[in-house]
Amino acid sequence: MLRVEGLKKVFRSGESDLVLFENLSFTLKPGEMLAIVGESGAGKSTLLHILSALDRASAGDVYCANLHLNSLSQDQAADFRNRETGFVWQFHYLLPEFTAVENVAMPLLLRGDAWEQVEPEALLWLREVGLEQRAHHRSGELSGGEQQRVALARALITRPKLLLADEPTGDLDGQTAEAVFALIARLHREHQLTSLIATHNLSFARRCQRVLRLQRGLVEEILPESLPA
Ligand SMILES: Nc1ncnc2c1ncn2[C@@H]1O[C@H](COP(=O)(O)OP(=O)(O)O)[C@@H](O)[C@H]1O
Ligand SMILES: [Mg+2]
Repeated sequence: MLRVEGLKKVFRSGESDLVLFENLSFTLKPGEMLAIVGESGAGKSTLLHILSALDRASAGDVYCANLHLNSLSQDQAADFRNRETGFVWQFHYLLPEFTAVENVAMPLLLRGDAWEQVEPEALLWLREVGLEQRAHHRSGELSGGEQQRVALARALITRPKLLLADEPTGDLDGQTAEAVFALIARLHREHQLTSLIATHNLSFARRCQRVLRLQRGLVEEILPESLPA
């Protein structure tokens, strides 16, 4: 599903180079759920951006869905993101003046699909995340946890194979974070997704199948069971 070979990312900062990671190689099989952990600034977001072709690596290769991401043009990269990936961020980036169902429908509307066709699909995804009864509320009126559920439905309405989530529970209180993480885990299973989740929350990471830790330029795969519960 995803193959990363010898990946390196360096940012120039003033006179010195900041090496976020190098020699990073791993493969992810269909259906696997990988947590990416590491302190703030370790490079988790940058890695997710490279894997979704939003950013370029300094060296190395990424293969996903039979594509070599490094050699895609801007248009091809946008197409890859739209077709193959669903992205959830720490902040939901919903359009507050639009209703929940309109927000969920947005990726399909942006492709040019007709509202009559898209609305039932969006309602279906709202049901999937347990929010059907809130479909016609403006998203700005929903709670933080509900907004993140809407963002998940929006990420999945295009039926991507790869789900990328960057601190999806980072802005939520403990109980709400738990509910959203449990929802992600269920959607991952039921829709046979391959998922990568950057998280600060080690007890969530522990519940993923695999864990990649970024630490001061070193990357290693660790056993989920080695993390605190
Ligand atoms: N475009 C950029 N130019 C220079 N430095 C950057 C850029 N983007 C991120 N960084 C730096 O790279 C490091 C890793 O950032 P990030 O990937 O956001 O880490 P994390 O998500 O783990 O908190 C940080 O020190 C950040 O300041
Ligand atoms: Mg980050």
